[in-house]
Amino acid sequence: MSKVVVVDHPLIQHKLTMIRDKNTSTKQFRELTNEIGMLMVYDITRDLPLKDVEVETPLVKTTQKQLAGKKMAVIPILRAGLGMVDGIIDLVPAARIGHVGLYRDEETLEAVEYFAKFPQDIQERRLFVVDPMLATGGSAIAALDALVKKRDVNPENITFVCLVAAPEGVEALQEAYPDVDIYTAALDEKLNESGYIVPGLGDAGDRIFGTK
Ligand code: PRP
Ligand code: URA
Repeated sequence: MSKVVVVDHPLIQHKLTMIRDKNTSTKQFRELTNEIGMLMVYDITRDLPLKDVEVETPLVKTTQKQLAGKKMAVIPILRAGLGMVDGIIDLVPAARIGHVGLYRDEETLEAVEYFAKFPQDIQERRLFVVDPMLATGGSAIAALDALVKKRDVNPENITFVCLVAAPEGVEALQEAYPDVDIYTAALDEKLNESGYIVPGLGDAGDRIFGTK
């Protein structure tokens, strides 16, 4: 069974409280979402494998560490996942970026795919699928379907990263993809009758892009 990790670093928790505030501006919301994305991936990647390499400093030749293992890709779920990408790419600039576009049908709450474009060597990479919100889990599951079912990606190569998760979404995602680890900055109380996370932070996409 996968891990569910609440990344409780004080800086992340502080910034998350700021974006929950309904009075936080679009500009601040966008900046903070990127910063939290970066801090989360910094924490999540502490297990990345390293290898020994030789390097010549101005003084001597020495053996030091370099990243080894799979190359990485960040897969934002459009739109709101885009809000986390710049922060993550600042940290791992060599990572590729794939996109999966989904929206929630507001009546049925079902995720509908409208776009998908991934690096051609997607099966060889370690993937971070990112979306600020894990509510019913429908969007996350549809994004993983686009990778695992449609493109033969091994679910063990995937980590799902969000800012706020509802227990319902965590349960649904774990049931659909038991091999995918879930990292969230907060595990909130519940979903309301409209599928919003409570206490949550509202509609992440609208708050990042200023569309409401
Ligand atoms: C939001 C959010 C997630 C999804 C979560 O996206 O960014 O993708 O809802 O809800 P779920 O777990 O119930 O599927 P939305 O569909 O509002 O689209 P947007 O990112 O374009 O705003
Ligand atoms: N999507 C959001 O953006 N916010 C929620 O609370 C639930 C789904």
